[in-house]
Amino acid sequence: MNKIKLTDNLSLSQIIRGFWRLDSWNMSTEELINNMRACIDMGVTSFDTAEIYAGTLCESLMGEAFAKDTTLRGKVELISKTGIFKEEINGRSFGYYNTTYDRIKQSCKESLQRLHTDHLDLYLIHREDPLLDPWEAGRALLDLKKEGLVKEIGVSNFDPFKFDGLNKAVDGALVTNQIEWNPVCFEHFNSGMMDYLTANKIHPMIWSPLAGGRLFKEDDPLCKKAMDKITEIAKRHNCEPDTIVYAWIIYHPVQAMPIVGSQKIERIESAVKALDIKLEHYEWYEIYAASGQQQIR
Ligand SMILES: NC(=O)c1ccc[n+]([C@@H]2O[C@H](COP(=O)([O-])OP(=O)(O)OC[C@H]3O[C@@H](n4cnc5c(N)ncnc54)[C@H](OP(=O)(O)O)[C@@H]3O)[C@@H](O)[C@H]2O)c1
Repeated sequence: MNKIKLTDNLSLSQIIRGFWRLDSWNMSTEELINNMRACIDMGVTSFDTAEIYAGTLCESLMGEAFAKDTTLRGKVELISKTGIFKEEINGRSFGYYNTTYDRIKQSCKESLQRLHTDHLDLYLIHREDPLLDPWEAGRALLDLKKEGLVKEIGVSNFDPFKFDGLNKAVDGALVTNQIEWNPVCFEHFNSGMMDYLTANKIHPMIWSPLAGGRLFKEDDPLCKKAMDKITEIAKRHNCEPDTIVYAWIIYHPVQAMPIVGSQKIERIESAVKALDIKLEHYEWYEIYAASGQQQIR
């Protein structure tokens, strides 16, 4: 397994395992432990979660696995996120952001408790918050680092302006931006984020690399166009179409780390196989242009 070095203190497996959908997997703690062990055996040692996933349930389920098999935690790099909250307010569920100093500190401590661990390897601000005060949020993140509760800090879904603002406040300590990228989503190419990250040698984590499974749905015209091309390329390389998508993401010089969201071990194996696929240079552009959203002029 390739390791991507983020700092002297932290490297992640290039293929990361995401646990956002864990609450729908209907796994017992024992099954989850076996599932986690199978990932670790493949070298997929970096695990991604967030406090908001299933209203903190995903962190708790992972924590039960770490508590039951105490050898697991030391074998993985654990990533969580804060900043999004959903509450019952005046009888209605309402989602909002909170990236204040006290909230970030409290959230991290609560995540550690749920996950049955004494530190996170990487802690991210989950989404851009229109009320983000980079100096206040930055101070909270740096204090968590100083206290040894998190090894490294980063963000998710930030545009280049917000990334730059917070990164100034933490003296350049942000080690990643976790962003969406797949053959039908190019937001961060169009915002300049990919150029920013590549130029600054900051390696992004990529969420929904398969568009959350939509890529395989025939009724979505953009996905269908992209998948027709991806399937054609997969035949040339004698592999599964999803392997080609991961190979396409890994090909980029930014050295991205796709986060696999599937519950199925064989689908994680398909992602790992991408590390051995050598795409032709032109094939990268074939996929880039396949959905029709990006023009090659
Ligand atoms: N930072 C953020 O804002 C953010 C947002 C979303 C997600 N994330 C992170 O990114 C991770 C990955 O996101 P994701 O779950 O959306 O990733 P994904 O890998 O794009 O999608 C996973 C979904 O696709 C399905 N799928 C995979 N292969 C398939 C196939 N060949 N045919 C049909 N369906 C298939 C999976 O079903 P099966 O389980 O049945 O295989 C699963 O439901 C999450 O777990 C989370 O850690 C972060």
